[in-house]
Amino acid sequence: MSSQAISLYKKRRSQYALGKNLPISQNDTTHLIKQAVREAPSAFNAQSSRAVILFGAENQKFWGRAKDELRKIVPADAFAGTEKKIDSFAAGAGTVLFFIDTDVVKGLQEQFALYADNFPIWAEQSNGMAQFAVWTALADADIGASLQHYNPLVDETVREAWGVPASWTLRAQMPFGSNEAAFGEKAYVEDEARFKVFG
Ligand SMILES: Cc1cc2nc3c(=O)[nH]c(=O)nc-3n(C[C@H](O)[C@H](O)[C@H](O)COP(=O)(O)O)c2cc1C
Repeated sequence: MSSQAISLYKKRRSQYALGKNLPISQNDTTHLIKQAVREAPSAFNAQSSRAVILFGAENQKFWGRAKDELRKIVPADAFAGTEKKIDSFAAGAGTVLFFIDTDVVKGLQEQFALYADNFPIWAEQSNGMAQFAVWTALADADIGASLQHYNPLVDETVREAWGVPASWTLRAQMPFGSNEAAFGEKAYVEDEARFKVFG
């Protein structure tokens, strides 16, 4: 049986060779990302995921600032490798910064005390679903992307540069752009080790 969904999931891969030539307009890319976040499920339909979408010079600014923060902590003799990696993200067309709005989580904890411990976990899971939704939607549009985690190192500089509310906690960064290299083979764990089917 062929499945449109599975074909798309297979098409979503980590792309590190990014370029600036998006196959669709910046507006359409923005619309796609917004829709993906909007349609991703969340516990209690809390919709606690937030996104900042950076294009062009703003994207350069983000990765420049990330580099500045990394320079403070990475040993000088190892920095060339770090710099190369950061430059590969800056070479793309943009980056999506994914956040959780902790005010929403707190509100739910107050409203539904019985599930208080679960809401932060569900917010993380929901954010992961939003990330997957965006990544897959970008892949569908032939836009390459990868998933990065320079938080909490860049949290403060992000807050300062883009006026992000204090309640928004940065959880992931998704640099995206044109696919400038083919994807490598992907290894899979044997089904026997992963699944049990009964009935
Ligand atoms: C929760 C999560 C965290 C990840 N963190 C990183 C990361 O910090 N840096 C990175 O380059 N890739 C990261 N990845 C990407 C994985 O390494 C990648 O998805 C995996 O190796 C499978 O490759 P594929 O994306 O091409 O299918 C992350 C993926 C997930 C789901």
